[in-house]
Amino acid sequence: AATAHYEAESAPAVCTGTIDTNWPGYSGSGFCNGENATGAHVEFTASAAVAGTATVSVRFANGTATSRGADLLVNGTKVQSVSFEPTGAWSGWVSKALTVSLPAGTSTIRLSPTSSGGLPNIDYADI
Ligand code: GCU
Repeated sequence: AATAHYEAESAPAVCTGTIDTNWPGYSGSGFCNGENATGAHVEFTASAAVAGTATVSVRFANGTATSRGADLLVNGTKVQSVSFEPTGAWSGWVSKALTVSLPAGTSTIRLSPTSSGGLPNIDYADI
């Protein structure tokens, strides 16, 4: 299926946190700096014509020295754990490809941190 581009700062994406612009190299008009708390999230909404496997390519930056863990939820159900490794700097943006099964129609794809360290900064997803 064709890939669509979803900026984290633009609807229909949801960012529980702030849309920031202080670290260069982001796409669009900013990036999601999610709250540093469990339960925070960035959520993308994407449509699939038919059920099947999709690649979710998430562009992120983690300027800390440790990985940040997240649950990946599709339509509210956790489908995998994701580790966002250090990217060297908050301005060091890297894309990570995740493979998910999506049903036909519209789905929500949510990343939610597994620790109070929160998510990395999230720029966009190509789905
Ligand atoms: C710093 C950085 C933010 C980042 C945050 C974090 O404050 O400036 O962009 O989101 O660390 O630890 O998540």
